Amino acid sequence: MTIDVPKHADELRRTARAMVADGKGILAIDESLGSCEKRFKSIGVKSTEETRRQYRQLLLTTPGIEEYVSGPILFDETIRQKTDDGKPFVKVIQDKGQIPGIKVDMGAHPLAGSPSEKVTEGLDGLRERIEEYRSMGARFAKWRAVITIGDGIPTRQCYEANAHSMARYAALCQEGGLVPIVEPEVLIDGDHDIDTCEAVTKEIHHELFAQLYRHHVWLPGTILKTSMVISGKECPQRAGVEEVAERTVQTLLGTVPAALAGVVFLSGGQSPEESTAHLNAMNRKYRGKLPWPLTFSYARAIQEPALKHWKGDPNNVKQAQKLVYQRAKFNGLAALGQYNKEMEQQAA
Ligand code: 13P
Repeated sequence: MTIDVPKHADELRRTARAMVADGKGILAIDESLGSCEKRFKSIGVKSTEETRRQYRQLLLTTPGIEEYVSGPILFDETIRQKTDDGKPFVKVIQDKGQIPGIKVDMGAHPLAGSPSEKVTEGLDGLRERIEEYRSMGARFAKWRAVITIGDGIPTRQCYEANAHSMARYAALCQEGGLVPIVEPEVLIDGDHDIDTCEAVTKEIHHELFAQLYRHHVWLPGTILKTSMVISGKECPQRAGVEEVAERTVQTLLGTVPAALAGVVFLSGGQSPEESTAHLNAMNRKYRGKLPWPLTFSYARAIQEPALKHWKGDPNNVKQAQKLVYQRAKFNGLAALGQYNKEMEQQAA
């Protein structure tokens, strides 16, 4: 027997639409302990449960963030944490009218048989974890797969292993009443050109949607989070904003079924300004003309200026929150195609 429409279909569709509502996107704050360690080290702050709590509190309680952010993606530790005055983070999010999300994968690990590539783990016990997260208030989930471009890679093995796991994760999410975000990230690291990035992005999208189909994942209750089609960071001749926007949209049109609820982008190591400009260029030209909304699900591109300003000092919280709000606003405008560069100068 196959399942065409999941039990929670109405709710899944409603949640997925709200996640990508007009002028809104998602704030990723689901960094693993290792990633937090790295980010905090860059500002001279020791990463502890308490400093992570303080930092996530800063982000989540940013005044007005709900105008541009439909919901945050939390980490397992974060979904259990509370504000200084004892209010659960989940309640803070709900009181702002936002939707709590949760990262449920267990990270990317070396792929046996092709150890320079990675496969994301986390399927064991996932049904039970989804049940727990839903009972805590989560309504969507995220699973990130990493595709590395390099000598002789990515391999078929890597595309297939990651797409298969993502499809099983997505099916479990829908069974348990969470909207799955499926995130195949083609890494920006390396000197490859934009053609290579385009070819690899197409390949992983085709494999992913074939697997989602095979596992009866219901697309109106699913969100794709993907990387843009962009030149490698060390590529000697990097494509400009218009080309990145055009190639990304054309790649999506050629690989992503129209029934999908929405497409969101990760920033993947682009600067905050670059990430906003690319999203804006896509929406300025194509908004309302594509089968799905295109918006953001950035971590670094929203957090970076605030993290640098914060430096772990409670006296810096207010100003850091203004910086979070500013990036969220610019990206919200970019989701409407209404951002422009002059706004950066005015804000500065
Ligand atoms: P970046 O925007 O920093 O790439 O992070 C997005 C994300 O959630 C990666 O999984």
